[in-house]
Amino acid sequence: MEVIIKKDYEAMSKEAALIVANLVKNIPNCVLGLATGSTPIGLYKELIRMHKNEGLDFSKVTTFNLDEYCGLPPSHDQSYHYFMHDNLFNHINVQPQNIHVPSGTAPDVDAFCEWYEDEIEKAGGIDLQVLGIGGDGHIAFNEPGSSLGSRTRMKTLTQETIDDNARFFAKKEDVPRYAITMGVGTIMEAGHCLLLCNGEKKAETIARAIEGPITAEITASALQMHPQATFILDEPAATKLKRYDYYKWVYDNKP
Ligand code: PGA
Repeated sequence: MEVIIKKDYEAMSKEAALIVANLVKNIPNCVLGLATGSTPIGLYKELIRMHKNEGLDFSKVTTFNLDEYCGLPPSHDQSYHYFMHDNLFNHINVQPQNIHVPSGTAPDVDAFCEWYEDEIEKAGGIDLQVLGIGGDGHIAFNEPGSSLGSRTRMKTLTQETIDDNARFFAKKEDVPRYAITMGVGTIMEAGHCLLLCNGEKKAETIARAIEGPITAEITASALQMHPQATFILDEPAATKLKRYDYYKWVYDNKP
C-alpha cells in the first residue's frame, strides 16, 4: 500500500493524473476503471488538459465505470453515464464503443451484471481502477455489510449515501434507492487500485480504511489486501492517520 499526501485537492488530482497518463502512454490499449462523484473531477480536468495540450491519446483505451443508479436513463443529468460524458468522455478521444458504464435501466438486472463481468474479462481485466470513498467507507456502491468477495450486482444505498448524494438532486426523495455496482471482488481484480480522498469530512473514514481492521463495515479497507493499492489524499483528509509522518517520509525518500 502506498499512501501519498498532497497539499490540496489540485495537487492530489495532478498526482493521480500523472499515474493515469503514464499508464496510457506506456500501454496505449490499457483498460481503465473509472469512478464518478465530486472527488475525481479534478483528475478528469487534468486528463482533458493533457489530451488537449500534450496530445495524451485515449483512442485505444477501454473504460469500465464502477456503478450507475437504477432507474436513471443515460440522458438523465444525474446519471453516471451523463456525468462521465460531461466530465471526461466528450472532451477526450476515447472511442464510444470502448466505453462501458453499467446500465441503470436493464430489464434483466442479473443478466446485465453477468454480461458486465464478462466484458471486463474479455477486455483482459482492468489495469488501473480509479476509486473514491463514501462517507460510510464504501468503494463504488459497496455499502457497509457488502461481501468483500462480491461481484457486479444491484445494491440498496444506505441512508448516509442517499443524504450525501441529495445535493445533486432537487429533492432527497429523487435520489435513487438502488444502484448497479461492481463488487469488491471485481474491484480487487484490477491490476492497480488508485483511491482518491479529499476533505476533512472523510478523515476518520479514510483512516479506518487504511489503518483500521479489514472489515465489510468499511469496504475500502479490503484494499489493504490488494497487491498494488495507492491512496492519494489531500492534507485535510490525512489528519487522522496514525502513521502520517511515516507516509510522508516514505514518499520523500522514494528509491
Ligand atoms: P464523492 O463520492 O466523491 O462525491 O465524495 C465518493 C463516493 O461516494 O464514492
